[in-house]
Amino acid sequence: MEITLESPLDMHLHLRDGDMLKLTAPLSADFAGAVIMPNLVPPVTTPQMMVAYAERVQAALGGAAFTPYMTLFFTALDEAALLAAKGTPGFFGFKLYPAGITTNSEGGVANLRDADRTLHLMEEMGIPLLVHGESHGFVMDREQEFLAVYRDLATRFPKLTISMEHITTAAAVRLLDEFPNLCATVTLQHLIITLDDVAGGMLQPHLFCKPIAKRPEDRDALLGAVLGGHPRIMFGSDSAPHPRHRKESCGCAAGVFTAPLALPKLAEIFAAAGAADKLQGFVSGNACRIYGLHPAAKTVVLQDTPMAVPAAYRSYGQTVIPMDAGKQIAWSIK
Ligand code: NCD
Ligand code: ZN
Ligand code: ZN
Repeated sequence: MEITLESPLDMHLHLRDGDMLKLTAPLSADFAGAVIMPNLVPPVTTPQMMVAYAERVQAALGGAAFTPYMTLFFTALDEAALLAAKGTPGFFGFKLYPAGITTNSEGGVANLRDADRTLHLMEEMGIPLLVHGESHGFVMDREQEFLAVYRDLATRFPKLTISMEHITTAAAVRLLDEFPNLCATVTLQHLIITLDDVAGGMLQPHLFCKPIAKRPEDRDALLGAVLGGHPRIMFGSDSAPHPRHRKESCGCAAGVFTAPLALPKLAEIFAAAGAADKLQGFVSGNACRIYGLHPAAKTVVLQDTPMAVPAAYRSYGQTVIPMDAGKQIAWSIK
């Protein structure tokens, strides 16, 4: 069996910088393009930084047919600064992090009310807002607690396109029904694993990410919505590489590296569920419609011929362990 995808997009991707960028960019370029996260050290906060980062991304891609849709790390900005961002080639939108909630988010927003004026201007200018939506509460409840913030933002800024990034709960899926200006991304791992896979047996650092994987009923709600072709849920891998020594250590960094196996694994999931016809919408169609994207043509053919996931990816002095390291996946890219 084969599944042919036109211009698949990854709507949430971490490529990092320096040698790690050189390693991960080519491994993430099966897609036609991706929304590139700005949580570098220091974060990408200005158009100048964004343009310079986009150039480093392009250099690391080495000519691969892949469009980086660049984001800026949200800070309170005035109209002139927003216009400058909007007018910068390659700019896609702002990524808002509550301060200190995840990897390299220390410079995020401490008080959302301080963001009101900027959000109002973004709404008027048609600039999308992408949000890491977690509170500072108990780790299993953080996303659900943050839904009140999404509700408030979606109500007060009805024309602002708000993406709930990497949702992990049934409650977040249900919230989409309440507000047409909300959309969401879902990762690969959250369609597959629950907290049991992370911490139910021996601790699995390579499956540890933020938000933490939740309950079986949450995973099943995400799967049900995605396989059912939910029109406002998009694939965003949140592929988030960390050096091996930062994962296999006392104080494991959050993030799962999935970019090189994402499309084969998605094909496996959708085909097994008899929903192969829904994959195009999930990995491209929904995002193109929601954001008015017109990605360059790129055809990716997936086949039900197995692929062996490497035990590790090594180059430029970096070592990264992918999800399913050393395992076999039932599908591969032709
Ligand atoms: C991401 C990272 O490592 O940058 N980690 C993660 O666990 N998802 C940050 C993020 O997307 O929250
Ligand atoms: Zn996040
Ligand atoms: Zn992320």
